[in-house]
Formats: sequence, C-alpha cells, structure tokens
Amino acid sequence: MTDRNDDLFAAARAVTPGGVNSPVRAYGSVGGIPRFLASAAGARVTDAAGVEYVDLVASWGPALLGHAHPEVVAAVQEAAARGLSFGAPTEGEVELAALIVDRVRFGDARPVERVRLVSTGTEATMTAIRLARGATGRDLLVKFSGHYHGHSDGLLAEAGSGVATLALPGSAGVPAPVAAQTLVIGYNDPDALAAVFAEHGDRIAAVIVEASAANMGVVAPLPGFNRLIAETAHAHGALMILDEVLTGFRVHPAGFWGLQAQSGEEYLPDIVTFGKVVGGGMPLAALGGRAEVMELLAPLGPVYQAGTLSGNPLSVAAGLATLRLATPDVYEKIDAASERLSRALDAALSDAGVTHAVAKAGNLFNASFRASAPRDYAEAQAQESFRYAPFFHSMREQGVALPPSVFEAWFLTAAHGDEELELIERALPAAAAAAARAQA
Ligand SMILES: Cc1ncc(COP(=O)(O)O)c(C=O)c1O
Repeated sequence: MTDRNDDLFAAARAVTPGGVNSPVRAYGSVGGIPRFLASAAGARVTDAAGVEYVDLVASWGPALLGHAHPEVVAAVQEAAARGLSFGAPTEGEVELAALIVDRVRFGDARPVERVRLVSTGTEATMTAIRLARGATGRDLLVKFSGHYHGHSDGLLAEAGSGVATLALPGSAGVPAPVAAQTLVIGYNDPDALAAVFAEHGDRIAAVIVEASAANMGVVAPLPGFNRLIAETAHAHGALMILDEVLTGFRVHPAGFWGLQAQSGEEYLPDIVTFGKVVGGGMPLAALGGRAEVMELLAPLGPVYQAGTLSGNPLSVAAGLATLRLATPDVYEKIDAASERLSRALDAALSDAGVTHAVAKAGNLFNASFRASAPRDYAEAQAQESFRYAPFFHSMREQGVALPPSVFEAWFLTAAHGDEELELIERALPAAAAAAARAQA
C-alpha cells in the first residue's frame, strides 16, 4: 500500500536528483521511502500522510527549543512584516553578534571578539579557511578524517556521515590541486598531529576540527586533544579553527569549547564557526574570532567574503529569539533527557544481546554497533552498521523519528518531556530486538 510519502517521493525524483535537497535525507543507508514532513511542533513532527513521530533529528540540530517555538515564530513573523531582506545592515545583526561575543567566554578567555554572519555552516567554514590562509600567507589545511565541515571543495576528503552513508571516499568534481591542499589525518591521534606538523609545519595555515566530532557518530575528543591542537598549531604559526556549527549553543551556552573550559581543559581557538542553533531553524551561520584575525575580512582587510542574504532579518530574528530563550534551564533539561535516553538505549541493546557502545559528548549521543565507543573514523566504520536499518525502521513504525544514518548524533530538544521520553523508551526494546535479528 502506498501513501502520500510514496507519491511525493516519486514526484520529487522526477524533478530533483534523488528526490531530496540534501543527500542523507534520502534514506540511502536505511532503505525505504523518506518521510516528507508537513509540520512540526515541540518535540513532534508530522509527515505528509498525517503520521506523527517523536522527533530525534531536530532539523539536524537547530531546534534546540523544540520545533516552531511560539516566541521564535512570532519573532520571525514580526520581522517578516517589516521586510524580508534589505541588503543593508540592521539593528538585529548588531544584537546577535553582541550576544554571540557575550556567550562564548569562560572567565577572561574570550575567543570570539568579532563576528561575521553568513547563511550556512558551509559558508562559515569556507570563509574561516580563507581567513586563516589570508592571515598566515600559507595554503595547507589539516583536517581530521570523519569530520564534516560542509561541502566546500577542500573539505570533502573523508568527511563523515553524508559521504560515509553513501560509501563515497570524497566527492567527484573537486580539482586534484585543491584536494592536495587538504592534509587528512586520524582523529584523536597526537602522533599524527605531530608528524603532519613536523613535515609541513611552515606551510600549514590552519587545523580545522569539529569541537567534538559528531558526523561519524558521536566521537568526543580525548582529554587534552583539542588543547594539543591549539598548542601545536600555535607553535608552528598556524591557526586553530574550531568548528562549532553542530555543537555551538547546543551542548552548552558557550559551545563545546565552553563545556571543556568549564571542566578544566582551557585553550584558545583562533576562529570559531557556528551554525544550526545560532539561526534557530532559519538559514544563518557565523564565524567569529580574535579581532586582529577577523578584521582581515573585507571591508577592513584583504580577505573577501560577502553575501546578498548574509544577516537576513528573518534569520537574525529567529537566532536572537532562540539564543535569548536558551537559558541555563534549557540546557539542564536537555542534559537530563540525554542522560535518561542514552541509558535507556544502552539498556535496551544490552537486554537484546546486541554488541554496542553508547557514546556521549555533552548532550549529544548515539550508539554504534561495536564493543567500544569509536575514537576515530576507522573505528567508527568498523561496526555492524547493518543493524541500524532494522532498528531505525522499528522505531519509526513505533512513532519515533531517528536520524536515517548510524553515523549521526541523536538530537533532543527542550520540548521533549516525560511523555515523549516514555514513548521512546517503550519503543526501544522492540527496535533493539530487530537489531539483534539483523543479518549482514
Ligand atoms: C560540524 C559541521 N560543520 C559544518 C556543517 C555544514 O553546515 P551547513 O549544512 O549549514 O552547510 C555541518 C553540518 O552538518 C556540521 O555538522
């Protein structure tokens, strides 16, 4: 029997490559027909056939407060009534930049003194890299395998979830000379970091790193690893770009950096990138950093970057409303829900006899089908990932929407209450049993 989702997917494939506008949405690794979403409110989403799910995707991160939070929606509606886009500076942009500067601090440490607003995380990291190259006069970039920083040319090598889900090594269409500017090393590997700097140190502009890896499943940095990156880069005159597109304002008011600083690991990245939560569900991202680095951007400096829709008033309104509502109790609630759900997931898989490990980084978590939590991309890939599809579909049939890839974090929102958590907990045992029965 087909439903509206099947019809829409068929229609979509006739006009859009693969029927989707971002590859992981296509259900490639879990199989089946993607659910076309018609609406969302709080912790729940409703598909085109009218079926409701408790949502653990949260738009891949942005919906920190839950979907369609009334105050965020009202802020966007008010902004829309004043005009959709001006191509001129607005007061809201100043407020949002000031709020970001103010939030990302720990004691006297303040990595973000200036902020530039852009529209997507891809743009933020792309600009951060150009800025680092402009600041250092060097070309080479170090990234970690399995880390995703968006889809710009130099950043697709061994880039985690999207390409991993599709079993692609990288992307076609990236010129070899561009790819050659990116040196990919293993994550959480101090020796690899030392070796790449020993060999190329005077030509490296920057190291870019996810503040905590979460695009190959959740893989937290080993204690001291982020600090080591900062120290090593700085010792060689290179910059550290901390990518907080996914973690920023989601795991802590000051991002994963803030969470680490609070627990005693203090380091100073030179450029920090934000996305997702900072736009509250609208297209908005940002990069920030030390004034002397950021002021190399045009119009003050020689590093060019621009955008017709940069700092769009609707996006700024959504971002401002979201960050203002993201008070400490929001994080406490999400942290508690994450603790509860990650334990329930662990218990359900254990009870079903499924080899697994639940990994956490702040309130982000997911399970991998291997005996220990992966520490790098090679380990993340060495798991019985065939168990995820039946697990995913069982949860879906029971009314829970999980990310359609084993290489993604599960995202909670402040709108997930007891009722939603209980529904998820009740669904887990059958899903774990389905995973246990799966055949490679
Ligand atoms: C860590 C990280 N950086 C960058 C990006 C790219 O952001 P966008 O999809 O907004 O281009 C993502 C997206 O998932 C991300 O997780």
